Amino acid sequence: MTKPKVLVARAIFPETITRLEQHFEVESNQTDAAWSKAELIAKLQGKQGAFTTGSERIDAELLDACPDLKICANMAVGYNNFDVDAMTAHGVLGTNAPDVLTETTADFGFALLMATARRIAESEHYLRAGQWTKWAYDMFSGSDIHGSTLGIIGMGRIGQGIAKRGAHGFGMKVIYHNRSRLDAGLEAECKAGYVSKDELLRTADHVVLVVPYSPASHHTIGAAELALMKPTATLINIARGGIVDDAALAVALREKRIAAAGLDVFEGEPKVHPDLLTVPNVVLTPHIASATVPTRRAMADLATDNLIGFLTQKKALTPVNPAVLATR
Ligand code: GLV
Repeated sequence: MTKPKVLVARAIFPETITRLEQHFEVESNQTDAAWSKAELIAKLQGKQGAFTTGSERIDAELLDACPDLKICANMAVGYNNFDVDAMTAHGVLGTNAPDVLTETTADFGFALLMATARRIAESEHYLRAGQWTKWAYDMFSGSDIHGSTLGIIGMGRIGQGIAKRGAHGFGMKVIYHNRSRLDAGLEAECKAGYVSKDELLRTADHVVLVVPYSPASHHTIGAAELALMKPTATLINIARGGIVDDAALAVALREKRIAAAGLDVFEGEPKVHPDLLTVPNVVLTPHIASATVPTRRAMADLATDNLIGFLTQKKALTPVNPAVLATR
């Protein structure tokens, strides 16, 4: 019996390739070459499965050109690189990688919040540049985390993880805004109170964004929202590029309309808005919130399990368009 064919679109753990090869004929991009869309389409010819990472756009144009494709397994919890409607219309299953990265990503959100509020990156650059010649009472004074008000926009699993860290670990008052309100039990677990987005922006000392990207959440934070925030507030984006209007944020940071920001995701990444690179009061990291070895392995394993499950038994653990499972 011939094995199904799978394309691995980006470099990944060698063990992942070995495991995939037990079930599939595998072509992989272990050199991590930057493929154009035309190259990706060419590589997908005759392939039934694709292992994607979130940087490959799977849309109607690609699906029309790749009639053998049956599943795209994203090694990411976010899947805004998928045109889910087009995939469903083409009978192509999409899967993502939720849960396995929740705690690691919540840890990172908190780390970025701490680094931003306590000006860790900025002060480290100052020290490395040899500028530290004497101590001063107001040197790199930041804002407190403990006892402050934490506002979370997007209260899914990762948002809840951040809420628990804030409420239970740092005695923060936690408020949140979400498309739908959590049930009373979850609110109590997170010690979090539901408020409107405007109230959250007006009252939070620290605002953390964990909302998934969609056209509806584009520029959840723009100039108008930044204007509502306290001048002492910090803003953290670990969600997706495009949730924040990066140009407007750079202006707000430069004019000290908010105190500081910590960003792990950017509009048009890996490009970063040039104005963000020149303001000192922002901590910038290259989309690494889930980057620990065990978590990245678990994400790769889950994408692999989805490919194996679907292409060998028509089952998938974490489908994003489960309707396709019913038709296969
Ligand atoms: C990372 O951004 C992910 O969606 O997993």
